[in-house]
Amino acid sequence: MRKLILELSSLDNTDTVAKTVAEHLFPGAILLLWGSMGAGKTTFAKSLCVGLGVLPEIVTSPTYTLVNIYPGNWPVFHVDFYRLAAREELDDFDREDLITDEGVTLVEWPEFLLNYLSDEPVLNLDFKFVSEHQRRLSLESESGEFDILFKTLELQNSALQKTTISWNDGGS
Ligand SMILES: Nc1ncnc2c1ncn2[C@@H]1O[C@H](COP(=O)(O)OP(=O)(O)OP(=O)(O)O)[C@@H](O)[C@H]1O
Ligand SMILES: [Mg+2]
Repeated sequence: MRKLILELSSLDNTDTVAKTVAEHLFPGAILLLWGSMGAGKTTFAKSLCVGLGVLPEIVTSPTYTLVNIYPGNWPVFHVDFYRLAAREELDDFDREDLITDEGVTLVEWPEFLLNYLSDEPVLNLDFKFVSEHQRRLSLESESGEFDILFKTLELQNSALQKTTISWNDGGS
């Protein structure tokens, strides 16, 4: 299992990380976005969609529709189960209404989606509120299909920390 914790210290930083994630996705990838209200799931999803070639203005919170489907480099399914009170409300939904094998599936409040999963490549993203502009993102996956993404994010993160340290040292 791979795990990485990143500090999202600004909206710009969140945007950069989301676009790096987008660059390493593939058809069939499923991203589960965990975290409480206002933790940054939709903000991250929007940048990620843009990274996948979706027009930013069409990305909206699918709170009432449950699923939004956006055209992009691949179809993107954006699911949000926040308003779902019980598993039974999903009885009218088949797997293919919620999950795309031809594109990327993003799911906010993903608890109920777990019932639909077997051995798909899943990336868990857990957002935690740190302060007004800062969030902490834990990424975790049991699928080897995200290995290059994890390596890239690790490198990007250590480069960022070096920059921060050199700034703290007075930019020398
Ligand atoms: N570093 C950051 N990363 C992400 N969002 C941030 C950051 N700093 C501030 N924010 C703000 O936090 C808010 C996050 O709201 P967002 O709708 O993305 O949360 P959410 O997790 O989708 O909540 P909900 O469960 O209610 O849908 C936005 O207003 C965003 O501008
Ligand atoms: Mg949201």
